[in-house]
Parts: sequence; C-alpha cells; structure tokens
Amino acid sequence: MRSSSGVALARALSAILSLLSVVSGSVGVGRRVSKYSFPNDFMFGVSTAAFQIEGGWNEGGKGESMWDTYVHNHPEYTADHSNGDVAADSYHLFMDDIDMIKSMGVDHYRLSISWPRILPNGTDNNISYEGAKYYRTLFKELLKVNITPVVTLFHWDMPTPLMDLGGWSNPAIVDFFEDYARVAFNLYGDLVKIWTTINEPHQHCYNGYGKDYFVPALKSHGIGEYLCSHYILLAHARVYRLYEREFKPYQKGIVGITLDAFWADPKDPNKPEDVEAAENYLQMHLGIYAHPIFSDFGDYPSFVRERVNNMSSLQGYSRSRLPYFSDEEIKMLRGSADFFGLNHYTTYLMSPSSMEPDWDIPSLDQDTGVKMEQNLSWPRPGAEWLTVNPPGFRKLINWIDDKYNSLKRIPIIITENGMSDKGQTEDYERVSYFNEYLNQVLLAMYEDGCNVKGYFSWTLMDDFEWNDGYTTKFGLFKVDFDSPLKTRTPKLSAHNYANIVRTRLIDFDYIKPPSEFNRLLE
Ligand SMILES: *[C@@H]1O[C@H](CO)[C@@H](O)[C@H](O)[C@H]1NC(C)=O
Ligand SMILES: *[C@@H]1O[C@H](CO)[C@@H](O)[C@H](O)[C@H]1NC(C)=O
Ligand SMILES: *[C@@H]1O[C@H](CO)[C@@H](O)[C@H](O)[C@H]1NC(C)=O
Ligand SMILES: *[C@@H]1O[C@H](CO)[C@@H](O)[C@H](O)[C@H]1NC(C)=O
Repeated sequence: MRSSSGVALARALSAILSLLSVVSGSVGVGRRVSKYSFPNDFMFGVSTAAFQIEGGWNEGGKGESMWDTYVHNHPEYTADHSNGDVAADSYHLFMDDIDMIKSMGVDHYRLSISWPRILPNGTDNNISYEGAKYYRTLFKELLKVNITPVVTLFHWDMPTPLMDLGGWSNPAIVDFFEDYARVAFNLYGDLVKIWTTINEPHQHCYNGYGKDYFVPALKSHGIGEYLCSHYILLAHARVYRLYEREFKPYQKGIVGITLDAFWADPKDPNKPEDVEAAENYLQMHLGIYAHPIFSDFGDYPSFVRERVNNMSSLQGYSRSRLPYFSDEEIKMLRGSADFFGLNHYTTYLMSPSSMEPDWDIPSLDQDTGVKMEQNLSWPRPGAEWLTVNPPGFRKLINWIDDKYNSLKRIPIIITENGMSDKGQTEDYERVSYFNEYLNQVLLAMYEDGCNVKGYFSWTLMDDFEWNDGYTTKFGLFKVDFDSPLKTRTPKLSAHNYANIVRTRLIDFDYIKPPSEFNRLLE
C-alpha cells in the first residue's frame, strides 16, 4: 500500500513537472539549469551486458559461459544465491527493452554479445544459427527505431571450454578472440558500426584472476592477473587490426576499448607522498591498459614496468611477473582504438602503504603500494564500494585527456556511469547522481576542453550484478524479478534522463525530492 501510493504520488509529481516544463517552454524562470548544454551530435545512450540481462542460458544452442558454470557449481557465491539463468529475460523480452530505450529518447544502446551464444564451444567451427539470429534481429529492431547499437564483444562471459584452458592467461586466447571477432564482424558488421572489444580489463583481471571477487575466482594474485592484462591487451589489438584490415574498408565502422577507473584523490592533498600515491594508483590500474594503446610511446608505463620488475626481483623471481611486449606487439597496440571508452563510478582517497591486511603477496595491490579509503562523509546509497563524489569524474576525464595526446584526435566516450541503491522507483539519489556527474562532463568539455563525445548511463534496467546477484540495483527501470514477465517500470531517473536527452541540458529542479512535509503526508 504504502509503496504503491508512493509510486502514484511520484507519477503525479513527475507528470506535473513535465507539464510545467511544457507550459514554461524548455526552461522555466528561476530554475537551476546547467551553464552548458550538450551539442546536438553528442551521443546519449544506455548500457547493458549480455550475462546481466539475457537469461536464456541454455536456449537456442547456447554453450555455457564461465559465469553459468561457476554459479551453478557454487550457488553460495552470489549474495542471494541467485544466478543468471533467467535474469531480466531479455533473450525473450528484448522488444520491451527497445521500447524502454525509445521512451527515453535515447538514440544509442550499448550492449554485449554473449560469446558462447553464437559460438557454443567458444571456437569458430560451430556457429549457433539461433544465437547468431538473436542478435541480428535485435540489431535490426534497434535500427528500425533509429537506435544505434554500440556492441561490446567481451563483457566477462568467457565460454567455459576456453576458460578451462586458462582463459585470458593462455596466449592461445588471442587467436580464439580474433576468430570470434571475425565471426561477429561477418555476421553483424553491416548493421553495427561502433564496436568495443573488451569491457573493463582492470576489474576483470584484478577481481577475477587476482582475487575471487569475480568469476573465474582464480586468486592468481600478482601472476595470473598480469597474464590476463597482457593477453587481453594483445587480443584487443589483434581484433582492432583485423577490423582495420579486413572490414573497415567496406563496413566503415569504428572500434575502441572500454577501460574503467575510480578517481584517485590524495588523502591529504598537502602531503606530496599522498599525491604521488594517487598518481601511482592511476598508473597501475588505468595507465597499464591506456598507455600501450593511447600514448605516443606505447608499451606499459615506465612506472608500472619498473615497479613490477623491482618487486618481482625483491621477491626472488628471476623474471618480472609482468610479461614483456615485443617491438612488433608494441607497434600493433599503439593507436589501436578509434575512441577511448571510459567507465566511471566513484572516488577513493589514496595514501602510500607497503602492506595492508587484505593484500596478497605478490599482488597488484602490493605492487601498487597504495592504501585506498573511502570518504564516508560522501553519500553511499547502495553498494559498499560506491560513494558519490561528482568532481572526481571531471578530474579523471582531465587526467586521461592530459596524459594521452591521441585524445586530441580521437574522442572519449563515457561507456558507463551510474549508481546503485535498494531499487525504489522514487530514486531521487540516482536523479541527483546523474545530474551532478553529467554536469561534471559538461565542465570537462567546455571549461577544460576535453574531447568527450558521448555518455552511456549504467544501466537500462535492474540486472544480475555479478556476485551481488539481484541485491544491488543500478537500473533506470525497475525490474520485478518475481513476476513471470519481469515487469519493467520506469524510475524517476528514467524521466529525468529523458528530459536531459530531450533538452540537451540538465535541469536540476526537474525532479525535486519531496520535502519533509510531503513525506509526513505519505
Ligand atoms: C555445436 O554446438 C551445439 C550446441 O551447443 C552442440 O550440440 C554440438 O555438439 C556442437 N557441435 C560440435 C561439432 O561441436
Ligand atoms: C561443444 O559444446 C557442446 C554443447 O555445449 C558439447 O556437448 C560438446 O562436447 C562441445 N565440444 C567441445 C569440443 O568442446
Ligand atoms: C626500482 O628500483 C630502483 C633501484 O632500487 C629505484 O631507483 C627505482 O626508483 C625503483 N622504481 C620504482 C618505480 O619503484
Ligand atoms: C570528505 O568529504 C568532506 C565533505 O565533502 C570534505 O569536506 C572533506 O574534505 C573530505 N575529506 C577528504 C580527506 O577528502
């Protein structure tokens, strides 16, 4: 009762607000709006990932991904003992997804292809007709309503037979990934013109190969996590060069990569060692992927190379735990992206440390030598790791823009940004998060001259949030996971995003939290 009357109130409120904005023209007098507006060609989108929404885990000839296999074998792994078997059922309900995207006026949709859905065994000898057809239909339906698909080839759902061979830690994966990409470009390249190869290699390698926070939960800290980084980078470059050579001349699309980073603030900005720790953190977590691709020199950043070499030698290894690229590989990697995809969520405070209780030896953590803390006076409405600090976004975009000359020519596209909460449709905190973070993007563009060309909010709807299962919600749309049709309902943040996309600016008063007085009336 309480919550449904709350929804009704919110609906009425947002209806009234949109009426007001129509009556008073695009912007009412005295309303707080952003100083700048997004250019007309700025790409607005929403993001999802196959494993987090599709379900249909064994339908249409799909093979198993490592996430299927792992959560089936370890049901206790996820917070609510759930899995991705059905998720938001987008395998069947993708037309609903398209309606939702359309309802917000958004003209780009970033989604990923499930590798084992089109190649059940991971290898290109066996293409699933039904799996291949699923994405073809989806892309065609998107294009029919003028929504441009932006497609991620790898968003963490490695085919199980390839994971059994070591996944990204096995050099042979570079060939397998290239074979898969060739199939995808052949199947969809006439429809898809914007590709991203890999999603968040840092989170994937660090949490999945170095720790057990994500699948494959290898806990190969300090070793497997660097093999993963190394071969992911090479696989990315091989696929970029494949497209450039065999497909770009007639398909005329672009290929990039999606990297992620928290912003790193020094814990005490007056302490040079904290300032240095923040820089070291960014190099070890973001520079390690960005430098080989986007810098003029290529290869790993010299700080990262020296640091891992030094630590490896101190620890008695006769070779560095971070593999070396050949000159040819350095060349192949350098310039291997047509855009810089950036995922960003939060900020941490950094100070130097040689050891912390939760670090393994050896590990990327210890090699980095930086203690990460949250500023708990920043809001933390959902996931433990996510405090809200909008200015960190602008600083991160500037850090990237300053470091890599190539970004004067090629754009930064924000491929994910968002916030989790408990899943209420009156998500005032998410409304405010998007308003404030998007405003920082505008400041980075107009006051700092950063070359940002697009923004994709994470995420279209509530989904399977990896080891959090369905306990944390990031969606612009609520999904009722208990209902057979996985009913989708817009949250206030969806209405707010639609208004930003429509007006190209941020109206901070478009959706106002209810006053204390209104709360009492409820
Ligand atoms: C191809 O994949 C299908 C569906 O998973 C499977 O049944 C079949 O055995 C596979 N064929 C080969 C040759 O591996
Ligand atoms: C291919 O996948 C099918 C179905 O998942 C499985 O039965 C078969 O053994 C796999 N073949 C290989 C070579 O892995
Ligand atoms: C690596 O060790 C050398 C020699 O001890 C030292 O001069 C250098 O600063 C170290 N580099 C890093 C990044 O720790
Ligand atoms: C933590 O956040 C508060 C509120 O924004 C701010 O005043 C304070 O300086 C922050 N502390 C650090 C160490 O950044």
